[in-house]
Amino acid sequence: MDRRDFLVGAGLLAVTPTAASAAQGLDWGAVRREFRLDPTLINLGLFYLASNPREVRDAVDDFKRKLDANSHDLMPSHAQEVADALGKYVGGAADDIALVPNTTIGLSIVYGGLRLRADQELLLSDQDHSWHQEAARLAAARVGAKVRIGTLFADSAQVTEDEVATRLRNALTPQTRAVGITWVQSSTGVKMPVRACAQVVAEANKGRAVADRCLLVVDGVHGLAAVDDDAARLGADVFVAGTHKWLFGPRGTGMAWVNPQVSDQIVPLLPSLSNRSATAALGPGGFHPFEHYYAVRAAVEFHQRLGRPRVAARVAELATRFKDGLAEIPGVVIHTPRDPGMSAGLVCFDVPGKTGDEVVARLSQKRIQVTTAAYRIPYARIGTSILNTPEEIDRTLKEIRAL
Ligand SMILES: Cc1ncc(COP(=O)(O)O)c(C=O)c1O
Repeated sequence: MDRRDFLVGAGLLAVTPTAASAAQGLDWGAVRREFRLDPTLINLGLFYLASNPREVRDAVDDFKRKLDANSHDLMPSHAQEVADALGKYVGGAADDIALVPNTTIGLSIVYGGLRLRADQELLLSDQDHSWHQEAARLAAARVGAKVRIGTLFADSAQVTEDEVATRLRNALTPQTRAVGITWVQSSTGVKMPVRACAQVVAEANKGRAVADRCLLVVDGVHGLAAVDDDAARLGADVFVAGTHKWLFGPRGTGMAWVNPQVSDQIVPLLPSLSNRSATAALGPGGFHPFEHYYAVRAAVEFHQRLGRPRVAARVAELATRFKDGLAEIPGVVIHTPRDPGMSAGLVCFDVPGKTGDEVVARLSQKRIQVTTAAYRIPYARIGTSILNTPEEIDRTLKEIRAL
């Protein structure tokens, strides 16, 4: 199948496939050939910083050429098209999207701009990324507020929706101004039950004045384009995600979606290029690598043609294959839930007698790229991208067995 066939085929097939058949019907080899991956490497760390498909590379080159020809031609209509595309993709509105360079800066802008008093607190969990936690700490320190780090489950492999909801309910206080959670945790691979958390936060907000209302902030970077769900309809107040991971967007691009009902609770931290809406104005201004920002639309369109249900099903199919294989290796401990409802494309595990770093080093000798989670306990970790194959998963399992 050549590139045109793949595109045409994908276009014809994008008729909302059912979950069961979702991973079928696409030539994943043809999809992979759209990327400039190192062919000698099994790369199970593709979620780290995106490789771009041909369409996205072409869009970047095209915008770059235009800007090189005349940089006064900044083409603000393209920024609007990107917001339109992202808004539609997350099931929200373009006006509720701010363009940001990455998740970290997006979260920093949200916490830093939140109307927060010294007697209030931000509540995060011990499994949120350290940069998420640091964004909250820096914002809280500026006004003398506190950050509390809670624990939302005892055992990541066994976590349930009820456990998370109960622990969150017990942790909230009238002073909690925001709860920060991670859609898919890069420390454990757990997919957090965002809707259940939103329900708990909504109950806690009953009777609260606007200035005391608790917002639910989601770091969604490992869920966006890996999970088949509308990020703007999860019940969160804020959803932040880099588009330079699972969406294969240009490096240095991301988005923040803000529920319009709370957008007046977050004020801009920096001058913005956009006055399109209160949320758009959160996007930091000054000049940017516009060719990257504008090309986000191409990444969204590429992904939509593949079909979000099909992508999510493929990611889950490969992750499940890996977990099933690990479960048969004596002594290996899987830290990610086996349940696809509580997990997505990240799988964390331990090999007996080896640290995560040793696992990474040994597999690297076999030309297999895995990572460790940069957290308190650095488990070995893989991410199952649509660019990986069942054969790559099986090869990796074989090498892990040999350890
Ligand atoms: C859960 C999580 N949040 C945020 C980040 C940082 O993302 P970004 O590079 O988009 O700031 C990472 C790691 O890259 C992560 O794993």
